[in-house]
Amino acid sequence: MKNKVIAILMGCTMLSTISVFAEPAKSAKQAKDVTQFRQAILKLVKSNVGALGAMTKGSIPFDIKTMQTNSLRLGQLSLMLEDYFKTDTSSFDIETEALDKIWENQADFHDKISALTVAASNLNKVATEGDTSQFKPAIGKVFRSCKGCHDDYKKD
Ligand code: HEC
Repeated sequence: MKNKVIAILMGCTMLSTISVFAEPAKSAKQAKDVTQFRQAILKLVKSNVGALGAMTKGSIPFDIKTMQTNSLRLGQLSLMLEDYFKTDTSSFDIETEALDKIWENQADFHDKISALTVAASNLNKVATEGDTSQFKPAIGKVFRSCKGCHDDYKKD
């Protein structure tokens, strides 16, 4: 009997580690800080796609080194997003464009982050292999991952 209870408890613990990804912010200060950090990460994301956008538009030439460096950074930044969005700030009154449903649809939000991670890694591969025919589509995928998330989870 005792073993059975332990088995059930263990089952519950395992389930909760799978389904729970976010933790509510513990104070208004923490909510404000984490919001500023995630916004800073997104500003760096923007800074790293600027040149890529200009390359696909043809305003600057494709540059393999920049594509490699920036895609690597985007991949790392996407992993940081994963971390900083773990703190649920939805119950605090803070200046943010993040919609509360991020923390209601965590699995889906996680998928949207992964789309950026995957697109960044693909761009890195394409640039490293020097596959010129894929430069434009690979950069396009990165931009689609921004829109894919913003449409659902960011205020206009
Ligand atoms: C998984 C979802 C997601 C992805 C992917 C994503 N964003 Fe965002 N982005 C957000 C959310 C949510 C906010 C609002 C954050 C806030 O205000 O707390 C935001 C805010 C921003 C901001 C404003 C930051 C500030 O406060 O100054 C910029 C710029 C931005 N994103 C650019 C990008 C670009 C460029 C990409 C793609 C390369 C991208 N984002 C991909 C969810 C995402």
